[in-house]
Amino acid sequence: MNWPILRDRLLASPRFHRWVLAIPGLRSIARLQSRRLFDLVAGFSYSQVLLSCVELRLFERLAAGPCRTTELQRQLGLNDRSFEVLTRAAVALELLEWRTAPAGEISAKPAADASIADAPQWLGLGMLGAVVAGNKAISAMVMHHKSVYQDLADPVALLRDPSKTTQLREYWAYTRESMGEPTQSSPSSPSSPSNQSSAPKAAGAALTLQQVSDYSELMAASQPLVAEQVLAAYDFSKHRCLLDMGGGQGAFLSAVAKAHPQLRLMLFDLPAVVQKARSVLADEGLTGRMTFHGGSFFSDPVPTGADLSSLVRVLYDHSDERVMTILKSARRALSAQGGWLLLAEPMSGTPGAEAMGDAYFGLYLLAMGKGRARTPQELARLLNQAGFTRIEAVPTRLPLQTGLMRAYAPVG
Ligand SMILES: C[S@@+](CC[C@H](N)C(=O)[O-])C[C@H]1O[C@@H](n2cnc3c(N)ncnc32)[C@H](O)[C@@H]1O
Repeated sequence: MNWPILRDRLLASPRFHRWVLAIPGLRSIARLQSRRLFDLVAGFSYSQVLLSCVELRLFERLAAGPCRTTELQRQLGLNDRSFEVLTRAAVALELLEWRTAPAGEISAKPAADASIADAPQWLGLGMLGAVVAGNKAISAMVMHHKSVYQDLADPVALLRDPSKTTQLREYWAYTRESMGEPTQSSPSSPSSPSNQSSAPKAAGAALTLQQVSDYSELMAASQPLVAEQVLAAYDFSKHRCLLDMGGGQGAFLSAVAKAHPQLRLMLFDLPAVVQKARSVLADEGLTGRMTFHGGSFFSDPVPTGADLSSLVRVLYDHSDERVMTILKSARRALSAQGGWLLLAEPMSGTPGAEAMGDAYFGLYLLAMGKGRARTPQELARLLNQAGFTRIEAVPTRLPLQTGLMRAYAPVG
């Protein structure tokens, strides 16, 4: 019998479990395994605790310092039982922390079975809650997950029928339209074109301001997490002009522009998104250094003139076939003078974060109806087929947040 089969049989055997738990050296391994399994079972509840804290603005309330529990309970408007359940759960997950009373106040640590009446009187941010409090991007993503959880509430139904209507499909309107489905017209939107019927060739180009607003805001809110990683990993100072393809409201360009005042900037995205970007970047005083280009990867040429292009969180939204169209278009735009392409997105198979690429993004993108997280090797193959050379991974400080690769588009 080979080892994997033997291992499966042992791990499935209650007798083996009892035996392992009886041996001190093996007990800690068994405990760790049970904890990992329990976390898989309970993960949804943990997420709901985090969502409740964010929705109730608990971290914001505690950002200025610990708060007396009675005052916090009053602010949240929860009854004793609910407040106790939420705060204990949040403490257990290191989102909140019991604090000793400030000087002059009296506080007692409760027994494990104490009721709210015996609880310590002050609560502050826990190790993880403090991180959320300092980062609006995380809260924005957590709130977005309300729809994600609803789409994943019946995962088997989604797996059996991946074309089923989901909230994410509605939300990411360009993925819906790129499949040739009709888009909803919005008579009030100034950018509503007259021909709102399905137009797969001009994928996304017919979307209205209203249809792109929510996702563009979310992307802009979460972009600092990504831009910080890319800026720390890649040296932009040797470039003269950066074209951000699928650049959204320009949050990535704005972060790079502030760090590298020598760079000229170009933004390419769907016309309605570019319309939004123009007003956001005008407010930031960046429009003098920038040009804006509205169009679709699938029906319009990408503008030329940059010596560096970026695709940030773009490719994982699309099928291999569409990724090839995007990459070839990026290469054509760079190859007049030769230039570099940067790919920044969560990547599958990231050491230490395998679950993020394959379990999290796998299901998320299934519910969205398009795309998949790819390994660096898969991306390298696609880059190579699209005519790029000198393809390499660029290490980032937090690969869980952003994987980074670069590739060269030679002249011609
Ligand atoms: C997931 S968002 C990422 C936005 C931005 N790069 C960021 O990281 O914040 C994908 C972007 O690709 C744009 N996009 C989708 N389909 C497109 C198309 N056919 N042509 C041009 N841009 C497109 C979307 O409008 C959106 O801004």
